[in-house]
Amino acid sequence: MPPIAAPRGTNDLLPDASSAWRWLHETHARVVESFGYRLVDSPIFEHTELFERGVGTSTDVVEKQMYTFTDRGGRSLTLRPEGTAGVLRAVMAGNALAEVRPARVHYAGPMFRSERPQKGRYHQFQQVGIECIGERAAELDVEVIEAGWRFITALGLADVDIQVNSLGDLEDRQRFREALLAYYRPLADRLCDDCRRRLEVNPLRLLDCKRDAAPAAAAPLITDSLSATSAAYFDDVLSGLRAAGIAATLNPRLVRGLDYYAHTAFEYWHGSLQGSQNALGGGGRYDGLAEVLGFASTPATGYALGVERLLLVARQMATVPPSPPACEAVVCSVEPPQAAIAADLARQLREAGLRVVLDALDRKLDRKLRAADRLGASAAVIVGEDEARDGMATVRDLRQRTQRRVGVAGLVAAVRATLASPVAG
Ligand code: HAM
Repeated sequence: MPPIAAPRGTNDLLPDASSAWRWLHETHARVVESFGYRLVDSPIFEHTELFERGVGTSTDVVEKQMYTFTDRGGRSLTLRPEGTAGVLRAVMAGNALAEVRPARVHYAGPMFRSERPQKGRYHQFQQVGIECIGERAAELDVEVIEAGWRFITALGLADVDIQVNSLGDLEDRQRFREALLAYYRPLADRLCDDCRRRLEVNPLRLLDCKRDAAPAAAAPLITDSLSATSAAYFDDVLSGLRAAGIAATLNPRLVRGLDYYAHTAFEYWHGSLQGSQNALGGGGRYDGLAEVLGFASTPATGYALGVERLLLVARQMATVPPSPPACEAVVCSVEPPQAAIAADLARQLREAGLRVVLDALDRKLDRKLRAADRLGASAAVIVGEDEARDGMATVRDLRQRTQRRVGVAGLVAAVRATLASPVAG
């Protein structure tokens, strides 16, 4: 029988890679918490309706990419394709805005989209993100863009290009929709099947066509449909970014793939990521989403970044810190009769705060010491027949290849001294 493989488009996180992953998550929490964001978590599956209504039925995500299933009670549930709708639902349902407004929250976790897998694009992937819920102000858009940028910078990633646009308010988009229809209708015969189908339903989606970029290249620009108020709001965002020392590229063709955006929309691009996967992350303002989900109208803004893509670039740029060894010391019994003493010594060392692996298996000491090297341990504590009889242990410096016998009462201090000893050059 062939071994069972992981499902397509998924990634396993193995020990050698896990410290990079933890570094990324801790860096994100540290940076966004320095802006006052607090951790939240919401379910990995939600009612399908949350995404149909929130993300939009004519988006690629809802039309083609959702993992939807019927549970035993006959309810339609969906593995979350993104975090914003669920986090907003959680914050609104939990009445979090009654205390502080805006609510500043951050989150991390797996998302699911059934897109054709390739480098940087998976069926299950991770996002880290923030949402700032409850107020509409240009400085909050600036804060969100800045927080994401500071996080990316803290990972050591250079050459990130921030692309910004304004999608205006509902009326602006209605005007833009008319302009797009007037432009696209005469081209209908030349459009791809998806675009032809979406033309009357959601012409904005046509600007995001992955099959043929040519028609979108000459299409009208949303910036020409913005009211004076929307344009002034966007100007405030741009000047706020300048004041924060953040260089952003104005991109009037940036539309994003989800329907809930209004006003500011942005993406963090990196040139080393290929083609349509060039976005490390993105976000924007979604003032209409709470109402669409059945809550009181509540403005909000936020971003999400793809963890796999960030790590891909961080590895290319060699900014990932080296993995720490699995343990500092290994305690080895020489023969089975010393196993219980070795276990006891390992316990004492752990209680003293050291990271210790116990090797009391019935195998040769040579093998145990080789394994200790591979674990990256700096010290081995060896308990053989003589040591057990005399209440001693041998402490071996695995880097300098020296060793000495010490009384059990002085073991913690002896191991600490070995760990602190300089590495032989
Ligand atoms: P999004 O642009 O759909 O936005 O996704 C954000 C990021 O998630 C992408 O830029 C990418 O790095 C990563 N990502 C998306 N799909 C995949 C995939 N199949 N494989 C690997 N990585 C992927 C959102 O999800 C919005 N919720 C962002 C937001 C937050 N807007 C306001 N607040």
